Amino acid sequence: MRDINEFTITEAVKKTFKTEEGSRFEQLLHSFIEHVHDYTRENQVTHEEWMEVLMFLYDCGQISTPERHEFILLSDVIGWSALVDMINTRGGATEGSNLGPFYLDNAPRKALGADLSDGRDGVCVLVHGKVTDSLHNPLPGAIVDTWQADAAGTYPIQEQEQGQDKMDLRGVFEADENGRYYYTTVLPKPYTVPYDGPVGRLLRAGNRHAWRPAHLHYMVRSPGMSSITTEVFFENMEYLDNDAVFGVRKSLIAKMKPAKNIDDLGYTLTKTPDAVCEFDFVLAPEG
Ligand code: BEZ
Ligand code: FE
Repeated sequence: MRDINEFTITEAVKKTFKTEEGSRFEQLLHSFIEHVHDYTRENQVTHEEWMEVLMFLYDCGQISTPERHEFILLSDVIGWSALVDMINTRGGATEGSNLGPFYLDNAPRKALGADLSDGRDGVCVLVHGKVTDSLHNPLPGAIVDTWQADAAGTYPIQEQEQGQDKMDLRGVFEADENGRYYYTTVLPKPYTVPYDGPVGRLLRAGNRHAWRPAHLHYMVRSPGMSSITTEVFFENMEYLDNDAVFGVRKSLIAKMKPAKNIDDLGYTLTKTPDAVCEFDFVLAPEG
């Protein structure tokens, strides 16, 4: 290995890893090394530039905690998370979108028709729709797990020190025998991703803002189907065309209508809504 140079080093490094031939791990590792080396050669990266990248990653590690994962945020703002979501969306299924940092896997079960706002002020929205397979067959009993920000753009989990309950504004619903889900909640507002750390520095260096359009988060699952993690946005809201984390897709933007003739829907609701947002989820078979 004494005889390596800037062109032969890539193959030499790959050979030092004794990975299982043809394995997925080997493929990903080799490809990663190739791309990093190619990037370095193509851009003739200097020592200062190389060290700046490493210090940036160091800073991401320093600010990270179990609640704040700066590397995921980095992945989000460079569109990497969105790309992984796009590549892994199953044909015919609802498009995937950001999980974000505020999911909790033990949110309370709520009855259909419940109100998720936990007494918070704002526009009261009826959110409803169907969960089906790609042939429009309803999936009764499908689980719709949702979480969201309030009318000020804050997730209760971010304000626990101010006395907010982290389980507010979230709930797990079971779709009825027709695959329908429905509940009322407060219309969320746009909010910023954290920008007081290295990722914020990167955004500022690129003259970018940190705002996300208002959205509702969902994880939807049903036995025998691939579960989806996605977000629903609202038409005509700010930042739909410049989401800081590239989560918006045309198919995920729901229309908002005034709450007229909602009795015709036949739902029993605990709160009278001001507006209605309808969104259907489509799941593809597992495997
Ligand atoms: C969110 O949607 O909750 C979120 C996504 C990415 C970064 C920060 C927050
Ligand atoms: Fe969010």
